[in-house]
Amino acid sequence: MSITLSVIKADIGGYVGHSDSHPDVLAEAGECMARAKKEGLLVDYHVTKCGDDLQLIMTHQHGEESEKIHKLAWDTFVDCTEVAKKLKLHGAGQDLLADAFSGNIRGMGPGVAEMEFEERAAETIIIFMADKTSSGAWNMSLYKMFADPFNTIGLVIAENMHGGFAFEVHDIKESKKITFNAPEEIYDMLVFIGAPSRYMVKAVYHRDTGEIAAASSTQKLALIAGRYVGKDDPVCIVRSQGQFPAVGEVLEPFSSPILVEGWMRGSHMGPLMPVSIPDSTPTRFDGPPRVVAAGFQLSDGKLVGPRDMFADKSYDHAREQANLMADMMRRHGPFEPHRLPLDEMEYTTMPQVMQKLKGRFTDL
Ligand code: F6R
Ligand code: MG
Ligand code: MG
Repeated sequence: MSITLSVIKADIGGYVGHSDSHPDVLAEAGECMARAKKEGLLVDYHVTKCGDDLQLIMTHQHGEESEKIHKLAWDTFVDCTEVAKKLKLHGAGQDLLADAFSGNIRGMGPGVAEMEFEERAAETIIIFMADKTSSGAWNMSLYKMFADPFNTIGLVIAENMHGGFAFEVHDIKESKKITFNAPEEIYDMLVFIGAPSRYMVKAVYHRDTGEIAAASSTQKLALIAGRYVGKDDPVCIVRSQGQFPAVGEVLEPFSSPILVEGWMRGSHMGPLMPVSIPDSTPTRFDGPPRVVAAGFQLSDGKLVGPRDMFADKSYDHAREQANLMADMMRRHGPFEPHRLPLDEMEYTTMPQVMQKLKGRFTDL
């Protein structure tokens, strides 16, 4: 059975500030999704949140980039924005950058990760969702899952994975894409994906079968809007087990927290902390950035789950480490490398301050 899994998300209002989502907004989204399922547009759905981001997880048979499905997501965000406005939630409707839906939700503010595939006898899926960070945050984790034998032993000892994976990488500044074959092209690939604010892993494919293995959302909100509108707060779908990395191999990268861009005012480096879905409440200095993982088995398109994968005790050390890293980074206050370099900051007063002081600069 061919099925499409679409994860479409938007921040349409935070509770309190940018720290969490209001239950009434989630309930409204659930009602919109239930109607669409009843009408037969969706096979199944699950509504959840990561911090202040509303996550619509949908299965259907309309393929990727379906106007019907994108419009359903857009209309759901519009309805939920009404609820957010009534409650005067913070930043109500902030990610709806267009006035009206125009065929495809991509480029209109919300984040989209989609994949179409033939459902396997057992189809294991992990959906990662992050808050207070940008799309490039998945680069290192996807590299570890699909190209690093120190993370994924299956690459070495499982015959059905030994042929490696291909990475589709997007240059979001120049709007170009390229595909790298791992393992033989990893040195070339790392030149690019090691710069995650510009080069982002969009998708990963199994090389022997050509099957889609992972898909992420890569939009950069600031580039779409031409101004700061919050971080992208990306999502990523990963297929697991069999010819794909096992669940434990898919989750393993997050056991060693890394520094990502985002956090306070989208202008800082901070640790990406793996947490349970209820714990995705970025609070300290509006952070630190969070990642949650919802695990599902698909059964004829039905979403059996989720299991809240990072609720597991074995991520306690990662959370402790992330908190220590957060202390270390906060020590720098307004200095780099905590604060982002000038051209990466989402908020800046530089033009105004420069203008005010321009007469006072003299030649060295
Ligand atoms: C970061 C984020 C928050 C806000 C900050 C200021 O992605 O969402 O750190 O940037 O709380 O928010 P505003 O400008 O909405 O008052
Ligand atoms: Mg927000
Ligand atoms: Mg957010």
